[in-house]
Amino acid sequence: MSHLQNSLTLRCLPGPARLVLTVFLIAVGLGYLAALVQLHVQDSRSGTPLPTVADVILKYTGKQWLDTAPPPPVSQLEKLIMGPIEGAPWNGTGSMAPAFFHKDGAGFKREYEQADPETQKRLMAERNGEREALRLWIRTPDEQRRAAYEADRFVPPPQAAPTHITPDYRHPDGAIKVKSILNDRCARCHAAGAEQENYPLETYEQIAKYLVVPPSIEVPPGGGWVAVSTPISIEKLAQSTHAHLLSFALLFSATGLLLALTDYPPLLRYILAPWVLLAFLADITLWWLARLSDLYGPYFAMMIPLTGAVAALGLTLQILLTLFHLYGSKGKTVLGVVLLLLALVAVFVYAQQIRPALQAKRERLANNPPESAQPSPPAGLAPKTD
Ligand code: HEC
Repeated sequence: MSHLQNSLTLRCLPGPARLVLTVFLIAVGLGYLAALVQLHVQDSRSGTPLPTVADVILKYTGKQWLDTAPPPPVSQLEKLIMGPIEGAPWNGTGSMAPAFFHKDGAGFKREYEQADPETQKRLMAERNGEREALRLWIRTPDEQRRAAYEADRFVPPPQAAPTHITPDYRHPDGAIKVKSILNDRCARCHAAGAEQENYPLETYEQIAKYLVVPPSIEVPPGGGWVAVSTPISIEKLAQSTHAHLLSFALLFSATGLLLALTDYPPLLRYILAPWVLLAFLADITLWWLARLSDLYGPYFAMMIPLTGAVAALGLTLQILLTLFHLYGSKGKTVLGVVLLLLALVAVFVYAQQIRPALQAKRERLANNPPESAQPSPPAGLAPKTD
């Protein structure tokens, strides 16, 4: 009986069957590589080939390790007005500061370029004064802020008042015309009938939407895991679990079974055949532990890349060992050449496509660091079924 068992190997299968298995195993390998690309696209936010451990922790727990408290949060309006003058995206997550300078629609750029250095300095100071004044106004308690807007008269605290400001926006007594500034600089586009009429900024109510200050982030002394964004939703996690389990469990059972039916030493087969399936189950278990455990979530999340790597290693071994088991010495040679060619293609694609793309992504990120990370669903080749 035991003799019969031992002689039952894939090598005994007819040629066509072994050919099918060969193509199947290569397809699984390629599919796995594609899954890695997908994982990069979905979850890597730092321009690294694969998501970093910090990316994974953020995704499953919404937390980040912080040593010191980040700068106090400010309203979206303040962020957009005080944002960079150049280099940030021209939208609600970037900066609207150019609207005070080269995008003022009133010839600032020409005036600036033709002016002497002294005048240039004054022009910049005046425009920055408008921004400073708006910031002071934004930080005023709501009731006074509204009154100052409606009256177009904002009296800044004397010690903080901007020294320079475009003369048109100052009342004779020094009070600042905040509503006029907002009308000229912003409502020019953000008004009914204008370019950005979907986001009007013509009344206090419309502006107030962007005046909300997010709650500040508390960091325990000595640093700690701090909730900085929303973790992946339970619905998405459940959907991803279900899709992954149904498709990958079948796939990894197949590759495991095929390895089990080779003539490698029994101990190797006992370990390697269920390896990928077990690592995969551990991976999914960790998703849930990371998401659900408030206290230890980040530590569970840290192990997710590890189980991923263990699964990848196991799958690679399963595929290669089984492929080479299928053939005699001649077939092994052909197989070696085919695999070598595939590896060359992979290296070529990496050098030509992936590396430059990663480089570009890092440069983009260096210019515009992501504000707060948006979690996305776990990656996978699995079809998104409901
Ligand atoms: C030359 C036109 C223009 C000017 C002037 C302008 N913006 Fe914008 N603004 C835009 C564009 C374009 C967007 C992106 C809209 C989109 O996401 O579709 C935008 C988006 C915004 C948003 C995000 C809206 C939302 O809810 O997504 C806010 C807030 C905003 N601008 C505020 C301002 C402020 C404050 C000023 C004045 C300092 C200003 N804008 C001046 C063109 C302008």
